[in-house]
Amino acid sequence: MSFRTIIEPFRIKTVEPIRQTTREERADALTAARFNVFRLQAEDVLIDLLTDSGTGAMSVHQWSGMMKGDESYAGGRSYAVFERAVRDVTGFAHVIPTHQGRAAEHILFSTVLEPGDVVPNNTHFDTTRANVQDRGGVALDLPIPEGRQAQSDHPFKGNMDVAALERALAERTSRVPLVMLTITNNSEGGQPVSLANVRAVREVCDRFGVPLFIDACRFAENAWFIRTREPGHEGRAPIEIARELFALADGCTMSAKKDGMSNIGGFLAMNDEALARRCRTRLVLTEGFPTYGGLAGYDLEAIAVGLHEALDEDYLRYRIRSIEYLGDKLLAAGIPIVTPTGGHAIYLDARRWLHHVPQREYPAWALSCVLYVEGGIRAAEIGSVMFGRQPDGSERPADLELVRLAFPRRVYTQSHVDYVAEVLIHLHAMVGRIRGVRMLDAPEVLRHFTATFAPVDRSLVVP
Ligand SMILES: Cc1ncc(COP(=O)(O)O)c(C=O)c1O
Repeated sequence: MSFRTIIEPFRIKTVEPIRQTTREERADALTAARFNVFRLQAEDVLIDLLTDSGTGAMSVHQWSGMMKGDESYAGGRSYAVFERAVRDVTGFAHVIPTHQGRAAEHILFSTVLEPGDVVPNNTHFDTTRANVQDRGGVALDLPIPEGRQAQSDHPFKGNMDVAALERALAERTSRVPLVMLTITNNSEGGQPVSLANVRAVREVCDRFGVPLFIDACRFAENAWFIRTREPGHEGRAPIEIARELFALADGCTMSAKKDGMSNIGGFLAMNDEALARRCRTRLVLTEGFPTYGGLAGYDLEAIAVGLHEALDEDYLRYRIRSIEYLGDKLLAAGIPIVTPTGGHAIYLDARRWLHHVPQREYPAWALSCVLYVEGGIRAAEIGSVMFGRQPDGSERPADLELVRLAFPRRVYTQSHVDYVAEVLIHLHAMVGRIRGVRMLDAPEVLRHFTATFAPVDRSLVVP
């Protein structure tokens, strides 16, 4: 007898209380935070879906691994454990630990990129884009057209447009130091990339002699989508799929705060020995000695265990289903979301939902504010605040105005998800009364973290 209910494949050993607040308290907290949920105190948040990055719960095996952490400055045993795990999953020969994903990006791009160079990617994540642009490079997004449509039934909306890549490389091969594929494609809705697409991108890269790197943050979730959506891969072990995927690339950047199941950490890995040597030189300048790279020995141990736990079938089944479960509830209530549902998050389609709020008044940002005030839920805007500012300082509305509800790994249970659905259905009834915001002040780079705002009207929600 097999039962249909997909349960959380863990039991809870330690609990962290979360605090209920009143609507008035939350309205005051948001005003004090200048209408930017990144500026809130976390203890004022009930359900924190701001990010799935570094916010997960670690397992008993990770915690016990941490007790074995070797804190030697050089040649620590924990590095060997870490290196073995990364090699086992990715197959890459050279493993460079970093304190998180953007440090791996910074080291890679500051090593290979010259001003004016172009980096094609299915879609750059914001830190990747910022690191390319910081070096004077051009971050070229080449998603398939379906990737830019909020609603579609394409099973691999994260794919790269291979014909567009071919054109870009034919025009400027000498200015392309590497091609990158982000799996899953976070900025386009946590959508997966198919193995067939990775293979096709690899073939084009080979033809032009350009290396392929993977932004591997959510490689395990991507492997699960390949298993469940791509013909010919049904029933395969996620680790086998992951290995096949990495074998098509020359290297990767990784934030272990996602599918490394850890609260901090990342790495850069590659096959090219000469490039690895150059990257390690930069590593010593900015992160630390090559056998710890900005991490404690115990972090290396936690990641080594986490990389394999992320590939556990029961875990991945529960993980992907819990996102789909919320998506099903919202779609049944008529709430527009990005479809199909992705790996780590539900993306509310604020352009469709708040169609009365013009893009210059940041509808997705306003929605994230109202979501907090009404239900104590914190989520992130992925829209014109995050992507609207162009390198030349001009403003261009983003293709999509999304609010991302990203789920920390192994943290919330089904009743938390039911609560989130109930709050969103409550918002659905008042959506026509939600008004936009205007930006008061913002830094030039990664402005969403610290920018300040005010409602365009007297309040965010009019009577
Ligand atoms: C696709 C992608 N790449 C890179 C990063 C950067 O990783 P980190 O936050 O560890 O610097 C993130 C983080 O959210 C991401 O989602």
